[in-house]
Amino acid sequence: MIKYGVNSNNFFDRENKFEHMSPPHEEKYNILEEKNKLAELGGGIKRIESQHAKGKQTARERIDNLLDAESFQEMDKFVIHRTDAFGLDAQKILGDGVVTGYGTIDEQPVCVFAQDFTVFGGSLGEMYAKKILKIMDLAMKNGCPIIGLNDSGGARIQEGVASLAGYGDIFHANVQASGVVPQISIIMGPCAGGAVYSPAVTDFIIMVDKTSHMFITGPEVVKSVTGEEISFDDLGGSETHSKLSGVAHFRASSEEKAFAIVHKLLEYIPQNNLEFSEKREATDPQITKEDLRKLLPEKSTQAYDVRSVIKAIIDKDSFFEVQEEFASNIVVGFGFLGGRSIGIVANQPIVMAGVLDIDASDKAARFIRFCDAFNIALISFVDVPGFLPGSEQEHRGIIRHGAKLLFAYSEATVPKLTVILRKDYGGAYDVMCSRHVGADHVFAWPTAEIAVMGSDGAVNIIYRKELAKSEKPQEEREKFVLEYQDRFGNPYVAAQLGLIDSVIFPEETRQSLIKAIIQTENKRIQRAPRKHGNMPL
Ligand code: HXC
Repeated sequence: MIKYGVNSNNFFDRENKFEHMSPPHEEKYNILEEKNKLAELGGGIKRIESQHAKGKQTARERIDNLLDAESFQEMDKFVIHRTDAFGLDAQKILGDGVVTGYGTIDEQPVCVFAQDFTVFGGSLGEMYAKKILKIMDLAMKNGCPIIGLNDSGGARIQEGVASLAGYGDIFHANVQASGVVPQISIIMGPCAGGAVYSPAVTDFIIMVDKTSHMFITGPEVVKSVTGEEISFDDLGGSETHSKLSGVAHFRASSEEKAFAIVHKLLEYIPQNNLEFSEKREATDPQITKEDLRKLLPEKSTQAYDVRSVIKAIIDKDSFFEVQEEFASNIVVGFGFLGGRSIGIVANQPIVMAGVLDIDASDKAARFIRFCDAFNIALISFVDVPGFLPGSEQEHRGIIRHGAKLLFAYSEATVPKLTVILRKDYGGAYDVMCSRHVGADHVFAWPTAEIAVMGSDGAVNIIYRKELAKSEKPQEEREKFVLEYQDRFGNPYVAAQLGLIDSVIFPEETRQSLIKAIIQTENKRIQRAPRKHGNMPL
């Protein structure tokens, strides 16, 4: 009888018995069955129980819950490490701590790997890395998304540099796959040290509340190096990375909810960079003309939630926000318009008046680049007072970061449509997908105001001398402000110059965008040959 446990050597002893004799077929089938059982036990029952006690599923349970039922085809189930150091020769566990293979999600092929924390804490060694690389290679060759379920203590310490080499090879493969097939990482346990850089290169990171942590150095190292005392959660938990660092794109309150996010995400994105997302039946958002016209407040200084505008225009219930909690002064997310998948970028007036700052620029630029890489048309809703002034932003490099947004929009060759809702001031006018950075069609509502800056600031500068001399500066000021608003507080100056293509009523927006999406469907842009541009990173 095979003794199942951490050490699968028992099994090989048994196998050796057959070296000089040919077992009957039945016995061969039994061997495979027993090998399968051993592999499926991973690090053994105790460690599986401990995994469950932490509120975590095992690697295999996760794959079963993520993929369509019965669709998973495992690969390399019997791979073992080839290290003898530090007693590892006595611990060869079939599968070596990572479950890899392919299957389907909502009938679309995906490649998947799940790190098995029950085996050496999910730590990565040479053969483990090779398994991940093989599955990534398969995804690249066959053009399907790669989904990584991360739950690991990092580099397998006993394997030394071979383990670091494995990470390095995976990082390189992540970079080669970037922009070719979508890469999604779910963090479902620890992900520490250099190991974080594989998920970091992927397109989307989903973190599970409470059980997932990402950091370069953990709380103990932080304390010994800097003296700072900080908890795992505060340093690298899901909330920290969703709200503060912007490392995570989504967070889920449970593993099941994290899988639901993957399912939803895959509805909007294609299998690879040569394909388009599948079209679906379009449903009207059903909002009356009167309600649409009331979405923007009468006073241009008053805030509103731009998501109400987005939801009123795109297909019903199709908005799926990305990085909702990070840099909320800009909203990015997916949606459908007339049944076609779109990427949406919108300034958010209810957060910091929708101003563009460093984080908002980075967030939007990365999203734009994802959409461009995967043939997803971009729609920008603009209501922006400009870039955020102040030494804090200047010293942290708003010039460099704002330039990323400009670069990303200019570089994107997918259809780019813009709707100017209200303010569109200063450099932000150019950057927020104006004609100048390559928009295919710029629409503006009659409420649009396109100017170098807001009227108050403008009057302070251009009428400074007059106001200084004036006996009634307050009255004069108000007159100048009205004059300025009259001249620039509308879309018609830009429309006269052909910088806006159409001024439309809010209720025309949905149909106008659908017409423009259809018109731009076969857009082709040839760039001058170059190795790559030099985005200011
Ligand atoms: C080998 C490891 C391991 C590792 C954990 N284990 N991490 N074995 N290499 N990196 C083993 C433990 O010895 C233990 O074995 C089992 O996995 C479960 O670990 P526990 O510590 O009992 O679990 P838990 O209390 O949940 O703590 C999880 C943990 C902790 C926070 C991840 O294990 C930990 O701090 N591990 C070390 C993390 C680390 O420093 N990794 C190297 C980072 S450097 P037994 O047999 O006792 O059950 C790195 C460089 C990458 O990753 C560079 C790429 C360029």
